Amino acid sequence: MKKSMVILLVTGFVLSMAAVLQASPQKRWDPGTNTCRVFDFDSGWWGTGAQVWRSNCKSCHTRDNDQGAPFLYMESKSPQAWNRVFYERYPQCAEDGEWDSLSMEEILKLNDYLYRFGANTYDPNDANDCG
Ligand code: HEC
Repeated sequence: MKKSMVILLVTGFVLSMAAVLQASPQKRWDPGTNTCRVFDFDSGWWGTGAQVWRSNCKSCHTRDNDQGAPFLYMESKSPQAWNRVFYERYPQCAEDGEWDSLSMEEILKLNDYLYRFGANTYDPNDANDCG
């Protein structure tokens, strides 16, 4: 086999693996603050972001709620889509002031948490996901 052929095959393999192994993000670029946020112990389902989600957002966004809010859970959106929610703050509830009691730090941690566990982030072959 020619050398160039081997290089082409190896490159193709590496690229396809990169596409498969993009799960379980360990960090996130935050466009609002222009910072790279590295996830730590507090980004887990027991952390600050998860608590804000449960105590604040989930007071409305449960299944069959009477607030007119759509049911939302972590995997309702991709990590990128969650980033857009917080960067643009487009949801009506944000404009209505339902997020106003939260500090900047709490919102950033909530964004971290939802990004970390967003749609398609679970990878059963990744040791970080107990695979
Ligand atoms: C007081 C109730 C209430 C609280 C608290 C609340 N929301 Fe909402 N949210 C709503 C309602 C109602 C809508 C739908 C508004 C509309 O008709 O567009 C909505 C819409 C949204 C949407 C858009 C829905 C979609 O499918 O994209 C997102 C995202 C969202 N909320 C996220 C949040 C987050 C994150 C929090 C916590 C920081 C939160 N909400 C807290 C009531 C609430």
